[in-house]
Amino acid sequence: MYTLCPETDADTPEVEALLDLCFAPGRTALSSYRLRNGVPPVRELCLTMRAGDPDESMVAAIRYWPVRVGGKPVLLLGPVAVHPTAQGEGLGGFLMRESLSRAAAMGWERVMLVGDAPYYGRFGFSKLEHVEMPPPTNPDRVLGLELRPGAWVGVRGAVRRETRPEVLAGLAELDAPDLRSSCAEVEVTKDGPHARDKHQLTASHSAADR
Ligand SMILES: CC(C)(COP(=O)(O)OP(=O)(O)OC[C@H]1O[C@@H](n2cnc3c(N)ncnc32)[C@H](O)[C@@H]1OP(=O)(O)O)[C@@H](O)C(=O)NCCC(=O)NCCS
Repeated sequence: MYTLCPETDADTPEVEALLDLCFAPGRTALSSYRLRNGVPPVRELCLTMRAGDPDESMVAAIRYWPVRVGGKPVLLLGPVAVHPTAQGEGLGGFLMRESLSRAAAMGWERVMLVGDAPYYGRFGFSKLEHVEMPPPTNPDRVLGLELRPGAWVGVRGAVRRETRPEVLAGLAELDAPDLRSSCAEVEVTKDGPHARDKHQLTASHSAADR
């Protein structure tokens, strides 16, 4: 059994330590971090998993930030990380599916990330043509997913930081106690190549004004 919770400020040092453990040194120099600097994350979608109850140590985390491409709102997925002792048990797949399902329920239409196509392809991501991350980024690693059919059609150009004041204000004001109350106990079983949750988890948020 795992405890799945939205990340709060109190979790942040532990998430950062997990990311340091899972990624090569210098991860914050990557181009995607330049798009996140000074921008609040999409807190409802930044999820943590702990083995057992909420006091146990963190085993997995996923984060999302808002960006813009061609003037359109886009979710930038990442980083996602699973503690080395828990990798291959389906936690990464579980976090991907659960967070993407929540994102769709919130009204987000398109998602992108920079990562390995062989892993993210299993969630429906494919190479984005004509979408440029800040250099240096290998274009083959710039991947996208439509949460609404056709949402990436005609959306092209440089990936920009989200700077609209009304969006930043909305992201910043989310209340930590509200987030904490939406923790859930979950079972994750590796079922072939994919994990399957045994609970109906996805929050039924109303469509966000994006
Ligand atoms: C990548 C990561 C998040 C996957 O989480 P996980 O819980 O280990 O993954 P799951 O158990 O859901 O899935 C495991 C499957 O993914 C595959 N996989 C893992 N990383 C992969 C990669 N980089 N490329 C291709 N396949 C990969 C495994 O081989 C396994 O395949 P199988 O289902 O056919 O056996 C995790 O391994 C991790 O934190 N790695 C270090 C950090 C990292 O690389 N993050 C992603 C950055 S782009």
